[in-house]
Amino acid sequence: MPTVSMAVNGKDVSGEVEGRTLLVEFIRKNLRLTGTHVGCDTSQCGACVVHVNGRSVKSCTMLAVEAEGATVTTLEGLVKDGKMHPMQEAFRDQHGLQCGFCTPGMVMSTIDLLRVNPDPSEAEIRDWLEGNICRCTGYHNIVKAVQQVASGDAA
Ligand code: FES
Ligand code: FES
Repeated sequence: MPTVSMAVNGKDVSGEVEGRTLLVEFIRKNLRLTGTHVGCDTSQCGACVVHVNGRSVKSCTMLAVEAEGATVTTLEGLVKDGKMHPMQEAFRDQHGLQCGFCTPGMVMSTIDLLRVNPDPSEAEIRDWLEGNICRCTGYHNIVKAVQQVASGDAA
């Protein structure tokens, strides 16, 4: 089996994978980083979003071997010195989650939105979230969480 190596959350990791192993499987099964979720088998839900070389990617749409040499960040990698990322804090402040299943992907995706568009309109936020499905919240408080971070305000 091929060996794949990459940097995940600041640590160099490697492992044997099958050629067909998805990046999300490598993250969850080999690395046991289960903050990245799998909510579908059709690449629609966005629960599996991670950052690969700084950009949001649905990790169920990428083979592990395609991430060879990449820098990957998962939800677990957002916490620094025990402190949550401002986007995580905003989701908490604005009640942007209920069951929480979609939340890892939502957080990773919206961080990337603010990277490419630091001051998005409500419509731009909703448009960006087209690839992330939430069955609980109705999205309204997720939008408010993104707006909180974009504005630099705490709740
Ligand atoms: S698991 Fe649903 S899009 Fe990846
Ligand atoms: S909080 Fe339950 S799916 Fe989004």
